[in-house]
Amino acid sequence: MANNLLAGKRGIISGALDENSIAWHVAQRAHEEGATFTLTNAPIAMRMGKINELAEKTGSEIIPADATSVEELENLFSKSQEVLGGKIDFVLHSIGMSPNIRKGRSYGELNYDWFQKSLDVSALSFHKMMHVAEKQDALSEWGSVVGLSYIAAQRTYPFYTDMADAKAVLESIARGYGYRLGKSKKVRVNTISQSPTKTTAGSGIGGFDSFFDFADKMSPLGNALAGDCANYCIFLFSDLSRMITMQNLYHDGGYSMTGISEEIIEQMGK
Ligand SMILES: NC(=O)c1ccc[n+]([C@@H]2O[C@H](COP(=O)([O-])OP(=O)(O)OC[C@H]3O[C@@H](n4cnc5c(N)ncnc54)[C@H](O)[C@@H]3O)[C@@H](O)[C@H]2O)c1
Repeated sequence: MANNLLAGKRGIISGALDENSIAWHVAQRAHEEGATFTLTNAPIAMRMGKINELAEKTGSEIIPADATSVEELENLFSKSQEVLGGKIDFVLHSIGMSPNIRKGRSYGELNYDWFQKSLDVSALSFHKMMHVAEKQDALSEWGSVVGLSYIAAQRTYPFYTDMADAKAVLESIARGYGYRLGKSKKVRVNTISQSPTKTTAGSGIGGFDSFFDFADKMSPLGNALAGDCANYCIFLFSDLSRMITMQNLYHDGGYSMTGISEEIIEQMGK
């Protein structure tokens, strides 16, 4: 169902590791909708993932960048403009990692060096991307920047530990830069708060499968899949969403507005 929604638009898509990644689906949909874009990921992900396959499929160039490095992001934005032949119309930040979650640390036992790493990779990188884009004047007027978030920014999910704090910072940065870039360039900045999704990052969280099923039963529409999230990103990159900015947009099948569902009550009674 391609509608040429992104015809003529140039973008940067981060975070596609393998075909489960949300960013992988976004890249495929953006390609179908007529966009040209560069793909980026941390240098280590080049070896672990399948990004080359995606680049081939979508005719995209890969520009490796550790999103915590301003210098590497400078290279990403300047090279992307060179390769794509002009300013950037859309940016996807689809990056998250917590060493504390990886090592199973509880919220009361966080390693603070790792905590800083979680914040740097998962949240400050969003600030750094927009900092670099602004300094290079790399974004087109009426451009769109999207970051991916999770409802643990608003409500406590014990197993999400320091990623919850990182997501709260990420969403705040969307407001800070949304104001700034809106004033200067009419660029909009939003976060999408996505359902639990079966990806490498998602599955790293303790009890993910049970939690995935719980959210699915709580949501009147069921969990939103990665492909659904990609469609929402395409809408936010397209001209159809020009006046939406500084928002955290729930994309969760109704989960965030449901107190309890009949399925969960039934299960509790068993
Ligand atoms: N999977 C879920 O349940 C879920 C739910 C809501 C939000 N999200 C968010 O969606 C985004 C994408 O995650 P995903 O679920 O597609 O998993 P994923 O593991 O496929 O993607 C995470 C990406 O972050 C990249 N990354 C890690 N460190 C980096 C660094 N220093 N520099 C550049 N890139 C780096 C990884 O290489 C990977 O490609 C994340 O922000 C995640 O928190 C995921």
